Amino acid sequence: MNYLIGIDVGTSGTRSVLFDENLNVISSASEEYPLYQPHNGWAEQNPEDWANATINTIKTIIEESGVNGKDIKGIGLSGQMHGLVMLDENNEVIRPAIIWADQRTEKECIEITDKVGKEKLIEITANPALTGFTASKILWVKNNEPNNYNRCRHILLPKDYVRFVLTGVYATDVSDASGMQLLDVPKRKWSDEILEILEIDKDKLAKVYESPEITGNITKSIAKKTGLREDTVVVAGAGDNAAAAVGTGVVTDGSAFTTIGTSGVVYAHSSEVFIDPKGRVHTFCCAVPNSWHVMGVTQAAGLSLKWFKNNIFEGFDSSGKANYDMINEQIEKVEIGSEKLIYLPYLMGERTPHLDPNARGVFFGLSAKHDKKNLARAVMEGVSFSLKDCYDILIGMGLEIDEMMITGGGAKSKVWRQMLADVFNCNVGTIKSEQGASLGAAILAGVGAGIFESVEYACEKYINKGQEIIPNEASHKIYNRYHEIYREIYKDLKESFKKLSEI
Ligand code: XUL
Repeated sequence: MNYLIGIDVGTSGTRSVLFDENLNVISSASEEYPLYQPHNGWAEQNPEDWANATINTIKTIIEESGVNGKDIKGIGLSGQMHGLVMLDENNEVIRPAIIWADQRTEKECIEITDKVGKEKLIEITANPALTGFTASKILWVKNNEPNNYNRCRHILLPKDYVRFVLTGVYATDVSDASGMQLLDVPKRKWSDEILEILEIDKDKLAKVYESPEITGNITKSIAKKTGLREDTVVVAGAGDNAAAAVGTGVVTDGSAFTTIGTSGVVYAHSSEVFIDPKGRVHTFCCAVPNSWHVMGVTQAAGLSLKWFKNNIFEGFDSSGKANYDMINEQIEKVEIGSEKLIYLPYLMGERTPHLDPNARGVFFGLSAKHDKKNLARAVMEGVSFSLKDCYDILIGMGLEIDEMMITGGGAKSKVWRQMLADVFNCNVGTIKSEQGASLGAAILAGVGAGIFESVEYACEKYINKGQEIIPNEASHKIYNRYHEIYREIYKDLKESFKKLSEI
């Protein structure tokens, strides 16, 4: 029997999953690591933490499964997008990675737009200059830490740094590279024009591959540490959302998914390049060669609930503990609308639909009657409204969505699944496998290793649908009234968010 490994280098932790060639899970392991926020709106992680978590979890899944390393034919990498990893001439990490959630680069975004021109930027990179994307992070280091910038020889994305540790190769894939704002997204290659205008040396960037292509093999020292063999191939893989699309079978026109991880995403597949001229949603290459996707992003989706759990819900009952099961149980006791309480999930600024790094979280309508369970439900509802904003834009752009799947940690909550169906007012499908991005990465590895003939073939054959959730019309109507007010609150507070950021 052949085996494959899918790895997801996430924001809260890294998860490695060993699958057999029929994509059954044989073993899995995760390791968490910290997120550092040295200032309000900043977000950094240590690339070494990602690499160590990957090595440890690969070792664990091989040991626990008893599978012989020689039967593991391929590894697929997926991971959080956009993060900036800089290496010096000895391949040492120069500074902590500035990750996707970091919002410090508003000035650099203005610099990029001024230098390139707004229209040209959207025409080539398919997106406006965004604080979350890598290009503005590179310019921030250049403008603020010239010593670090001058020492930099290699620029890598998070999963590609992990690839470098596993294989010694500097490589990336088209989907993740799309989020750097340096790729010609329609042509699927680095844009010489953008690189020249921004004075970023192309030699520092990794080689770009299509997601199922082989980028290298495991090094001797990693083989020794993990139990893998040196002939195991590592394919290009994909950014976490493009990989989750493969893992949920969203690889053909008309299919879409919503994921609630640390961030939240509404993603639609497209065999054509579809660009929002207002730049509110992102257009990226997807993991299926010759296809793209359009997605809206909520910065703090699962992050909002995690923040709430750790900082507010803790101590809810006499056990003094807090966990998601307890939150889900309490939320079911609260009626729709959380008794007139609305939450704006903008803890880390917001991308879709506002593109506003200064936006921040809000509880609106607090009353002395409200308790922790009302607040918990409001958090979940606020994240759902934000995802509905993404969904509405995709529909407004003319993307046809015949099928909406749901995945990510948030999809484990029954209440949240029903809430999304009700807020979107569309059927929401689930997948039997909960492996999302790791499964997608393993499928890409299987295509690269020659086990599957194509991504579409593997999805058709192995992705099994689960339960389908039908929206409740009456609930949708109530949610709609709250969503209308939710939208007004941001408009009313926009200027105040800006002023607050300037203090
Ligand atoms: C997508 C994005 C996030 C990260 C973190 O543009 O920034 O979804 O990939 O998971």
